[in-house]
Amino acid sequence: MEKIIVRGGKPLQGKIRISGAKNAALPLMCASILTDEPLTLRNLPRLADIDTLQHLLNQHGVSLTLEGSRPEDFGRVLTMKAGNITSTLAPYDIVRRMRATVLVLGPLLARCGEATVSLPGGCAIGTRPIDLHLMALEKLGAKIELTAGYVKAIAPKGGLVGGTINFPTVSVGATENILMAAVLARGETVIENAACEPEIVDLAHCLQAMGAGIDGVGTGRLTVQGVSRLHGATYAVMPDRIETGSYICATAITGGEVELLGARANTMGAVLQAFELAGVVINETVNGILVKCGSRLRGINISTAPYPSFPTDMQAQFMAMLSCAEGASVITESIFENRYMHVPELGRMGADITVRGNTATVRGVAELNGAPVMATDLRASMSLVIAGLAAKGETIINRIYHLDRGYERLEDKLSAVGADIERIGGG
Ligand code: UD1
Repeated sequence: MEKIIVRGGKPLQGKIRISGAKNAALPLMCASILTDEPLTLRNLPRLADIDTLQHLLNQHGVSLTLEGSRPEDFGRVLTMKAGNITSTLAPYDIVRRMRATVLVLGPLLARCGEATVSLPGGCAIGTRPIDLHLMALEKLGAKIELTAGYVKAIAPKGGLVGGTINFPTVSVGATENILMAAVLARGETVIENAACEPEIVDLAHCLQAMGAGIDGVGTGRLTVQGVSRLHGATYAVMPDRIETGSYICATAITGGEVELLGARANTMGAVLQAFELAGVVINETVNGILVKCGSRLRGINISTAPYPSFPTDMQAQFMAMLSCAEGASVITESIFENRYMHVPELGRMGADITVRGNTATVRGVAELNGAPVMATDLRASMSLVIAGLAAKGETIINRIYHLDRGYERLEDKLSAVGADIERIGGG
């Protein structure tokens, strides 16, 4: 099993290139199912989750051509052509590896009139049902059956019909699934309480480039005028705001200075204010974002909530950063119920964190110490890397396959700015 070893205490200095966003790329790839013409995505990150989805799309009959396949290539270009959908079944073996594969449900149903998708797996951060995805598809006329771990959805004769969906809770995935279904439904669909994460804006822009009629992009109310067919397009995946935030944490905790090339401040929502409150100096540059942190960080309070509030996907990394800030921080996780699995691991490194319900109190310590730790999910793994960069001595991170799901060339990027980090083992 591969491990990552970090020897901490080196301030990061230099430039890091931000990759295309995983959480934007995955739904964009699923949108290829909606047309028989080619969809080309530029700035595609090199990640295990992207490979998993390529594999799934391929078994639906989508042909894929990837340019820039060498390990040193950033920003790959993927062309997908769903000339003929040969299978509408998304099997357990692939879906269990990554929850976002459930995003083929809406597009398959809209294009083919039916889809059978295994109930998803993915990161172990709570129960994570898909009831909202299914409720929304039913509003477009789909009949849903659940049998033997699979969801079978069937559109009415003549295809899906527009409807009104009012989400009781904001869901990123459910908004993406219904948006992709609605663009090919007959008539108008109104999506109330839609998620407005930048990745949804990216998806909507790509769908518009493919000929979809969508109004209200970037707001909580999306109106879709269905069209009978979509055409091909070329679209660049947005830069990864969570990778950006993760490297800001890494720079700040080491007291370094790093420019994040390609990062977009206007997609960061409340995260930038949180960094500033904690004492991180952030400036926009022509090339991205410049991060500086010369003095000790200050404890702050954070509560996760849908965009533009503080994202749950930054909670673990912030907790690592705040674990050696001056004073106490209170972190409240309101999106996922089991998202503190990094707490005992950070504790092994000397962090002083107490969890009660969905609230964690972090009392800043003067110094963290390296230790062997276990990565439990994608963002939790990154929090351990961040803590390791500041810790005294050696941190050995096990189960790093989680990191490979969401951070492109992590060790290369961090080594290039002066971190002492390496991957060992494997085979
Ligand atoms: C997406 C992101 C994930 C991020 C999350 C929240 C992708 C590939 N993943 O996940 O990284 O952590 O948004 O920003 O983009 N819920 C239901 N029923 C549903 C769907 C969701 O109850 O049918 C609940 C979830 O359990 C959770 C909340 O709604 O409590 C938000 O989940 P959701 O926004 O759907 O997350 P994902 O789309 O799975």
